[in-house]
Amino acid sequence: MDLNLTAKTAVVTGASRGIGLATVRTLTAEGVNVVGAARTITPELKETGAHTIAADLSTAEGVITLMDSALIELGGIDLLVNNVGAGDDVEPLGFLDTDDPRWTRVFDLNLLSAVRTTRAALPSLIERSGSIVNVSSINSRLPAAGPVAYSAAKAALTALGKSLAEEFGPQGVRVNTVSPGVVRTSIWEDPDGFGGKVAAGVGAEHAAFLQRIPEAFGITTGRITEPEEVAALIVFLLSDVAGNITGTDHVIDGGTVKTL
Ligand SMILES: NC(=O)c1ccc[n+]([C@@H]2O[C@H](COP(=O)([O-])OP(=O)(O)OC[C@H]3O[C@@H](n4cnc5c(N)ncnc54)[C@H](OP(=O)(O)O)[C@@H]3O)[C@@H](O)[C@H]2O)c1
Repeated sequence: MDLNLTAKTAVVTGASRGIGLATVRTLTAEGVNVVGAARTITPELKETGAHTIAADLSTAEGVITLMDSALIELGGIDLLVNNVGAGDDVEPLGFLDTDDPRWTRVFDLNLLSAVRTTRAALPSLIERSGSIVNVSSINSRLPAAGPVAYSAAKAALTALGKSLAEEFGPQGVRVNTVSPGVVRTSIWEDPDGFGGKVAAGVGAEHAAFLQRIPEAFGITTGRITEPEEVAALIVFLLSDVAGNITGTDHVIDGGTVKTL
């Protein structure tokens, strides 16, 4: 299938590893001129040939730095992937252990970063009939599984996608959401990250815990999702092949969510 993306321009947030890096790789392979942003510019991101911008996207200043530089570098934005999320403040904590500063930090990164990048990109996206994909999570549909602030922020991000699709669809901008289940990234694989902390919390050895995830999470396919599979879905939705798809939320979770 020809996605017809050659010579388009894109901004991808949270691009240094995981789903963001896989998305940058897929876009550059399709001939897209990409700006990728994260706090750390990894060798893997540099190797993609994308333009890179180091910025803390949990702050308004960081997003301004990214979007000002991206607009200069690219001359305009056709495609925006609001992928950055989770981050340092998503921990397996209950509601009573989640104080106001943590709620604020989680919302800054998981919701307001997308609000701010989208606001800055919209004039260009409207001019170019562009497209946005926001990366949410099945936590927006399964909030009981926690962590509480993250799930609430992702539910808000999914709702934001629908609002944006409604408001800017008539001006030619499509907005869709991708909601992954467990994906093989550092969120789970880093022993000091979320997965390592969840494993420690249940008294399990990290590697053994990772092995048990498909069964423990009820993943119908029996395996977790690869970042490249999420990237393929994101890039399809960005492309004109998906030209009449907008305001949707696409779950990619191997069958974890059992409801309609
Ligand atoms: N992996 C999963 O199982 C899963 C499931 C559902 C949804 N998701 C969602 O998918 C998205 C990507 O997750 P992932 O698994 O690929 O995560 P990841 O491997 O931890 O990558 C996160 C990316 O975001 C960047 N980042 C984190 N904090 C940042 C900040 N303050 N400013 C700028 N960049 C920042 C990281 O780079 P630096 O640390 O260098 O800044 C990195 O490039 C997130 O929105 C996450 O919520 C993931």
